[in-house]
Amino acid sequence: MKKIQLVTSVVEYLPKELPLELAELVEKAKSATQKAYAPYSKFNVGAAVLLKNNEVVLGNNQENAAYPSGTCAERTAIFYANAKYPDVPVDKIAIASFTNDDFTDDPITPCGSCRQVLCETEVRFGTPITVVLYGKKKTYVVENVSSLMPLSFGKDNLLKVST
Ligand code: THU
Repeated sequence: MKKIQLVTSVVEYLPKELPLELAELVEKAKSATQKAYAPYSKFNVGAAVLLKNNEVVLGNNQENAAYPSGTCAERTAIFYANAKYPDVPVDKIAIASFTNDDFTDDPITPCGSCRQVLCETEVRFGTPITVVLYGKKKTYVVENVSSLMPLSFGKDNLLKVST
């Protein structure tokens, strides 16, 4: 028996410290929150995906009266990007959230399903995706999705299934 420690790290930036390129992507994620369809939670989330061809694709949460039918901002944006540019790797994703007439103080963090989808995208293109999690008080930057999702399930697990 042995204990395996899985270590992860996040870089925290105070508002004035965020590098310009990341701040610009955050602004796009913030703007995407304003077009979210979130009449049930009233929690608007926006995501901005920067692709390696320098295109930025935006997405936001799309809710539904049948609650589980809705989807998060991150998946809306990633699926839209992959549908539009299936051969272009994702470089970065910025996420912001807006509720009670303001952006949230703390960084918004993606749910497990979105982490799973982001993980698949990272593996699919074989390049790390920088994840930028915006909050008014501080922004977290994670250098790749696998840091957010240790021991993730992926295609290699499927290949190991014996028939
Ligand atoms: N949501 C996102 O869009 N992204 C996240 O990272 C967390 C949660 C959405 C789902 C739902 O529409 C609302 O926020 C409240 O959970």
